[in-house]
Amino acid sequence: MDKKIKRNREAIRPDWNELREARNKQEKQTRPDQFLTPPENAERIKLNTTFSSIKQKDLTTCIQSRRTLRKYNDEPLLSEELSYLLWETCRVMSVKRNATFRTIPTAGATNGMETFIYVYNVGGLKHGLYQYVQNDHELAFIKSGEDLEEKVDEAILGQLRQAPVVFFFTAICPRSEYRYLFAAHKMLAIEAGHACQNLALAAEVIDAGICPICAYDQTKANDLLKLDGDDMFVTYCATVGKK
Ligand SMILES: Cc1cc2nc3c(=O)[nH]c(=O)nc-3n(C[C@H](O)[C@H](O)[C@H](O)COP(=O)(O)O)c2cc1C
Repeated sequence: MDKKIKRNREAIRPDWNELREARNKQEKQTRPDQFLTPPENAERIKLNTTFSSIKQKDLTTCIQSRRTLRKYNDEPLLSEELSYLLWETCRVMSVKRNATFRTIPTAGATNGMETFIYVYNVGGLKHGLYQYVQNDHELAFIKSGEDLEEKVDEAILGQLRQAPVVFFFTAICPRSEYRYLFAAHKMLAIEAGHACQNLALAAEVIDAGICPICAYDQTKANDLLKLDGDDMFVTYCATVGKK
């Protein structure tokens, strides 16, 4: 069997007994920082925490109507709608000394994920890249620029299709590895899946849809978000827009 395939199969079937033994032998470590600090002086945008203009739908309706959407209506997303998507998908709900609880489950409450978004067409928000500040439910503006749209499209291999928003879910490996060592990578991939599924269902509530994207350019996506590509890197993306 191809070595890479063999290695990657191993990554999603870690032996829990082996992990236990390795953890017993491990020296005590301090928990890595739970939150990525946005760039100094980055403009911060407060997001809605109540959603009076959003009409809720029941879960069964959302699950039944969800389909991958690759063609979007020209309508911009309202900033309240974007706030709602972030609120349901990426928000941190409470933090304890050794645990971070989010809307999505993260293995051992290790919180191994940060989220970035590209805003192309959202009412009240300027075009650009933003970091979602998960513990404050705010956006931090990172950058704009004329060639940004092209760079984002290249990073997601031509799949932008004028979507008003793109989500980038990233793995922050040390947060998970400190607890799950060689089993961390399975956890990180699953956590990104949880987030993207919440995004898909929350999008249904606002009559929008998503296209989950794994076919992206790893180096270009990391460079775009200024991630080192080693400890931190993109694991999953999604374009979002109105039906
Ligand atoms: C992990 C994962 C990665 C995916 N990557 C892409 C992608 O890069 N581009 C794309 O157009 N669709 C992508 N999709 C969407 C699938 O093609 C889609 O879910 C599938 O065709 C089933 O359609 P449905 O979502 O409407 O049920 C991805 C889906 C998953 C779960």
